[in-house]
Amino acid sequence: MKKQTVIVTGASSGIGKEVARYFLEKGDNVVINSSTTEKLEKVYNELGRGENLAMVAGNVSDKSTGEKLVATAVEKFGSADVLVNNAGIFDTKPFLKVDEAYLDKFLDTNLKGTFFTTQAVIPQMLKQHDGVVINIGTPLVNRGLGGVPITAQMASKGAINALTIQLAAEFGKQNIRVNTVAPGTIRTPMHGDNADQTAGLHLLNRVGEVEDIAEMVYTVAKSNFITGAIINVDGGIAAGHNLN
Ligand SMILES: NC(=O)c1ccc[n+]([C@@H]2O[C@H](COP(=O)([O-])OP(=O)(O)OC[C@H]3O[C@@H](n4cnc5c(N)ncnc54)[C@H](OP(=O)(O)O)[C@@H]3O)[C@@H](O)[C@H]2O)c1
Repeated sequence: MKKQTVIVTGASSGIGKEVARYFLEKGDNVVINSSTTEKLEKVYNELGRGENLAMVAGNVSDKSTGEKLVATAVEKFGSADVLVNNAGIFDTKPFLKVDEAYLDKFLDTNLKGTFFTTQAVIPQMLKQHDGVVINIGTPLVNRGLGGVPITAQMASKGAINALTIQLAAEFGKQNIRVNTVAPGTIRTPMHGDNADQTAGLHLLNRVGEVEDIAEMVYTVAKSNFITGAIINVDGGIAAGHNLN
């Protein structure tokens, strides 16, 4: 299997941390990011601070963070082959209480973070005539949930699906693949101790684990022919629910 250099945003916690660990374990080079330096340094140490690992702290909504990530990947490892746009935030607020500052938080991190980090990496992928962008979305953009007020969150994540498909079209001829992996509820710090409360949303009647997502991100990265795809790894949420 070709050794790749993989940039993972939001890698100081949850899904991103496991994605970084998974690629490292398989022998790839990994550049990790998150916005809080201390959290990122802790994970850099936890992951062994080896020769095939680098870190760049910074907010992904600022394009210069993406540029630093790409520069680090190229200087240290010679290429930027895979970008995993995983950094994201989650919160709930009733639609009528959402003000502009609150909406901007979601658009800045979830959407602009994905948009501008991708914009930073594509020039390098064009030079390589090779590259893969994997966004982390959610199947809930096509599946409304009463009782969970997440309009700001879903507006920002829905746009990621549209971005994925259009980018895949604009760069397919240059051998750049763009996909979204859409998880069901995954047990991460994002949900605190509440993850299992949503078990019944899944046909499997349980929530997922970070390894479930890392495995799919790895498969998509190593594939040759998957692009423009929204891939649910969701325990069946997109198909239906369990009434417990
Ligand atoms: N867990 C789920 O059930 C679930 C389901 C569907 C989709 N997702 C998506 O999966 C992704 C990861 O979620 P998770 O559950 O692993 O969450 P998590 O444990 O809260 O981790 C989020 C990561 O993103 C980083 N981050 C947040 N804002 C950032 C910013 N502006 N710039 C750079 N890094 C930033 C955080 O680090 P800092 O605090 O240091 O910035 C942290 O490393 C998110 O995009 C989320 O929407 C999660």
